[in-house]
Amino acid sequence: MRVLLVTGNQSKVAEVRDVLKPYGVNVEKADLRKFEVQGEIEEVSMLAARLAAMEALEPVVVDDSGLYVEALKGFPGPYSSYVYSTIGNEGLLSLLSHDDNRAAAFRCAVSYVDPINRVERTFLGEVAGYIRREPGKPGGFGFDPIFSPFGPNGVPLSEMSVEEKNAISHRGRAFRKLGEYLAARQ
Ligand code: IMP
Repeated sequence: MRVLLVTGNQSKVAEVRDVLKPYGVNVEKADLRKFEVQGEIEEVSMLAARLAAMEALEPVVVDDSGLYVEALKGFPGPYSSYVYSTIGNEGLLSLLSHDDNRAAAFRCAVSYVDPINRVERTFLGEVAGYIRREPGKPGGFGFDPIFSPFGPNGVPLSEMSVEEKNAISHRGRAFRKLGEYLAARQ
């Protein structure tokens, strides 16, 4: 089956295609507008999916993610996109420059809306890790260079292949839940 992924981010499309391929789900990038409201990520993704589905008149998927930094009481969380485009990775590192607590987590909410069969579902995924003191090598997108998942080797997301990142990432986990759900409905 085919679903439209409402995003302008080509890297994200490549990641999600890789996750959903084993479930027989083809992901097409849709240049529909992703309406962004302020709220928790699962509220943002669901509202955006409902609006996109009304326009597309076929099943759509919208994901919304955030980076939750423990020392900043969860900030930037749902405001991650704005923080990334304003202060970026360097700014986030300087906010934490005097902090020994580097714990953080990425969370992803994936909302699926099928306007024909009137189905609405949201799936959540999370990866726990820490904010690095120095960025890793460039790669991936967004906060990838400054985030390492907890694990034996401390590799930042930016230095992982799409497959390695998907195996453990917030988005990989959330989209695999969607994949299982869609595969069971086919
Ligand atoms: P979005 O809601 O998925 O667009 O994500 C919000 C913000 O979090 C964006 O500015 C991204 O840069 C950042 N972000 C989301 N997912 C990831 C990821 O997998 N790696 C790095 N940054 C991410």
